[in-house]
Amino acid sequence: MYKEILVGYDGSQASQKALERAIEIAKLSGANLHIVGVIRPFEFGAVDIYTIEEIEAYEKEEISKEEKYLKNAAELAKQNGLEPKLKVLEGEPAEELMSYADENGCDLIVVGRRGVGGFKRLLLGSTASSLVKYANQSVLVVV
Ligand SMILES: Nc1ncnc2c1ncn2[C@@H]1O[C@H](COP(=O)(O)OP(=O)(O)O)[C@@H](O)[C@H]1O
Ligand SMILES: [Mg+2]
Repeated sequence: MYKEILVGYDGSQASQKALERAIEIAKLSGANLHIVGVIRPFEFGAVDIYTIEEIEAYEKEEISKEEKYLKNAAELAKQNGLEPKLKVLEGEPAEELMSYADENGCDLIVVGRRGVGGFKRLLLGSTASSLVKYANQSVLVVV
């Protein structure tokens, strides 16, 4: 049975489904649940000029948005009798989720098929696809 389950949560409907499935599996296996959201670092345009304040404002807003998502996600996990671990990371989502899984002894990564943004024509989003290809853990893509 799984012991440490990681769910990638970006606030999308697909990640909500992933969360619900991860909660069920965690309950059935008596596993710990880790809910992790990854924010993207500020991206500099080629020609635009930014102030430090603008960059900091971006990061602050992204972090607080993700924290709100995680708070709601945690609420659902708690209603199901779990004590989830929450984390907001910054970087490329698939890479950050994989590092987190490796460093925290996770044995299952649960994600949705699609996320926020991404190309609508893709059946499998870029984060989900990288995880399936490169993660050291089993990956469950919830449909
Ligand atoms: N920034 C993120 N933080 C945490 N989980 C994420 C993030 N981005 C994607 N995921 C997870 O991966 C799933 C698939 O998203 P993704 O592959 O990024 O699709 P898309 O290319 O449509 O954005 C999401 O449902 C979510 O579970
Ligand atoms: Mg995405």
